[in-house]
Amino acid sequence: MLKQKTYNRISRLYDILDLPFEHGRYKPLRREMFKGVSGTILDAGVGTGRNFPFYPVASKVFGIDLSPAMLGRARQRREKLGTKVDLREMDVMEMNFTDNSFDAVVSTFLFCVLDTEHQLPALRELARVCRPDGTIHILEYAYSENPLRRFIMKLWAPWVRFAYGAEFNRNTEHYLEAAGLDLVNKQFLYKDIIKLLTAKSKIS
Ligand SMILES: C[S@@+](CC[C@H](N)C(=O)[O-])C[C@H]1O[C@@H](n2cnc3c(N)ncnc32)[C@H](O)[C@@H]1O
Repeated sequence: MLKQKTYNRISRLYDILDLPFEHGRYKPLRREMFKGVSGTILDAGVGTGRNFPFYPVASKVFGIDLSPAMLGRARQRREKLGTKVDLREMDVMEMNFTDNSFDAVVSTFLFCVLDTEHQLPALRELARVCRPDGTIHILEYAYSENPLRRFIMKLWAPWVRFAYGAEFNRNTEHYLEAAGLDLVNKQFLYKDIIKLLTAKSKIS
């Protein structure tokens, strides 16, 4: 519930603080992530709805988030953009959806927020609600291997921890196998800092 508090606190400032990154960095990455995604989609950790402009037109989308205040912002954005999305308050580690509910799951900058011990339970839940032939798309931060970029990220890290409860070093792909998922593709979309993980259920 600590993360809920963090995001309830920052919800009013979230879009303003993120604005330079949204325009300078994230928009094309979000567009890229949604390429080929269709059908019934789950947006896990929907936040204020930054992914709304990129939802495929013919899709049915559900957005879940732990923070009522972030969801309140998302509802305002839904109204403004006329986005068709069903928004619900839920914890990604315990979702109120039946097994195999979704053709695809997307998650942008949620796993950097989830604590290390929550990576696996969250991935297990995504695997449960995604159809066995569906795909899971996770857009996430990683520490750069470039010494200067890494140094700048290290300077930035205390603020990111305080404001967003996030870390750059979650290494989410490490937990995929234990969650019954195969890593289909890993691609850096912004320098060696933001990666897109694509995963599918293991073929048994
Ligand atoms: C960094 S924001 C990302 C929001 C949005 N996906 C984006 O790309 O801007 C992380 C979001 O995850 C939500 N969150 C954190 N822990 C969660 C959990 N256990 N279950 C569901 N949502 C969670 C937060 O409330 C917040 O809205």
